[in-house]
Amino acid sequence: MQSANDEFEDLRTSVLSCRKCELANTRNNVIFGEGNTEAGILIIGEAPGKDEDIVGRPFVGKSGQLLDKILAACGFTREKHVFISNIVKCRPPENRVPTPHEAAICMPWLLKQIDLINPRILILLGATALKYMAGNDYKIRADHGKWIILNNRLAVPVYHPAALLRDPGLKRPTWEDFKKIVLKYRELVDPDHYSAHV
Ligand code: URA
Ligand code: SF4
Ligand code: URA
Repeated sequence: MQSANDEFEDLRTSVLSCRKCELANTRNNVIFGEGNTEAGILIIGEAPGKDEDIVGRPFVGKSGQLLDKILAACGFTREKHVFISNIVKCRPPENRVPTPHEAAICMPWLLKQIDLINPRILILLGATALKYMAGNDYKIRADHGKWIILNNRLAVPVYHPAALLRDPGLKRPTWEDFKKIVLKYRELVDPDHYSAHV
């Protein structure tokens, strides 16, 4: 019998050598994702950017720094409370949005991560994660902060930190959305979860 941990490490090995789509030709690193493999929350971003492609880790650039600040305000750390992944694991050239074809080819890796981590809450970070996880019926401006069910799992779209950097007016509604996430985390994962601000 393989342990869950072995399965996760096998998945990592497979993803790190993947060449299933054309993004393999221009990437420097495959960004598998990071965090607690038993986290209650899985955060799904769009795609690695330039910094991530160089370093090999998710959300290490400006967006990542803002994401870490938001998580810290919720009392969440990458080590304990979340796992962070992306719709595609390789950087699209010039940081363009991943095509539907690339997203579809890469999706089984993300679905396997969801399966193995088995999080109680999925955070869909931005319009691209919302589109490829929930379909075109949802729109980030209308649906951010609303709970939706995806394959029997609770998910919530929120604005992408890059959108907050472009439009600081989105920070206040995003904080309201994250407060709801903290309350849901207490309800579903840990009633004693501490956050200084919620
Ligand atoms: N933006 C994303 O969507 N994902 C990353 O990993 C970094 C920036
Ligand atoms: Fe494979 Fe996904 Fe990278 Fe394409 S983006 S090569 S499918 S890991
Ligand atoms: N536009 C995006 O691409 N993402 C957001 O989160 C909001 C607006």
